[in-house]
Amino acid sequence: MDNSHEKELTSELKDTITYLEEKNGRLTAEKNKAVDEYNTTKSELYRVQKELRRLKTEIERMKSPPLIVGTLRDVLSDDRVVVKSSTGPDFVVSVSEMLPKNELILGSRVSMNKQTLAVMDVLPSPVDPIVSGAEIIEKPDITYEDVGGLRNQMMELREAVEDPLLRPELYKKVGIEPPKGVLLVGPPGTGKTLMAKAVANATRATFIRFVGSELVQKYIGEGARLVRELFELAKEKAPSIIFIDELDSVGAKRLDSTTSGDREVQRTLMQLLSELDGFTPTGNVKIIGATNRPDILDDALLRPGRFDRIIDIGLPDVDGREEIFKIHTSYMSISGHIDIKTLAVMTDGASGAEIRSICTEAGMLAIRDGRDCVTMSDFERAKSKVMEVEKNKVSRPPALMFA
Ligand SMILES: Nc1ncnc2c1ncn2[C@@H]1O[C@H](COP(=O)(O)OP(=O)(O)OP(=O)(O)O)[C@@H](O)[C@H]1O
Ligand SMILES: [Mg+2]
Repeated sequence: MDNSHEKELTSELKDTITYLEEKNGRLTAEKNKAVDEYNTTKSELYRVQKELRRLKTEIERMKSPPLIVGTLRDVLSDDRVVVKSSTGPDFVVSVSEMLPKNELILGSRVSMNKQTLAVMDVLPSPVDPIVSGAEIIEKPDITYEDVGGLRNQMMELREAVEDPLLRPELYKKVGIEPPKGVLLVGPPGTGKTLMAKAVANATRATFIRFVGSELVQKYIGEGARLVRELFELAKEKAPSIIFIDELDSVGAKRLDSTTSGDREVQRTLMQLLSELDGFTPTGNVKIIGATNRPDILDDALLRPGRFDRIIDIGLPDVDGREEIFKIHTSYMSISGHIDIKTLAVMTDGASGAEIRSICTEAGMLAIRDGRDCVTMSDFERAKSKVMEVEKNKVSRPPALMFA
């Protein structure tokens, strides 16, 4: 009897324990859930508070009065300054305590309080988007290996442009001034722009590139201003190389009889001349110009001290043509053997651009025949086609063109 009572008690206790354990498990899960909820709510609160702070500052910003833009004219000894506001008259005003004194450079743009005209901040000088877009940030993927022939010209160009920038002490030691500007001269399609691209790719200096015609602007004085800003940018980012392609569009000879458009181009040229004189040759800005009409360039551009090194880029000779063929065929899928030497001999008088066009044409002929690789006979046909067009262009008498 005693024994059975004990058993009953044990089983009852066991039941209670299981029940309590179960309850404990449930409660723990509930507690974990509550902790999770607490954490999410806390981060939500934090997010909302941050948003509130942001909106508050945004409202502050919206409520703050506009600042007036002016130009700094003079710094007086009692820490006040003379400014010219954009509305006209000059004012003597005080300067914000926060502004370091050394930033107050005469001529800089400043922002001023609307009521007191006190100078609040110095603004960066405005840069024309044409100018800021001229800096090459993404380097072109043309390397020295992509330029066929022109070995001497390439060497001269690098000597004149890269060495003075990267090893100025060499010139100091010898006691000469390095050339300031290099002019690449040669017939169309001979690789002038290509060479400049290769330099841009290889150099560690800032490369600034623009086309001469971009400087010819609609309004009087605009072109000259662009030239000035370009050189300012170059000086700011020195060591740098400025490349002016198609220089003849601004550098043509100045004539007496002119329209107002011509006079504007001449003003731009004069600004260019004075900028070329404006910095010391050992200074770390170099200029490369390129043109295929050196005959119409103004003499003043070519005098020593400006574009004082002229690199002649003629049509390629047999070896040059062979190299150019090699470069352009290296990307093509060729079937069988093609005799590049023969091709080079056949294409006497062709420019680099024509050789590239022969290669493209050969590829087109192969595609037309439904093949996916190019044969020697494609090249021969392409050559006669491209060279024939070129010959016709030259030999056609001008009178017939308009008959
Ligand atoms: N020496 C060369 N080696 C390899 N490719 C060349 C060479 N010369 C010209 N080419 C090819 O011809 C194309 C045109 O050359 P590029 O733009 O340099 O001519 P350019 O001399 O600047 O002519 P332009 O005076 O008309 O501006 C190049 O993109 C290149 O494919
Ligand atoms: Mg060119």
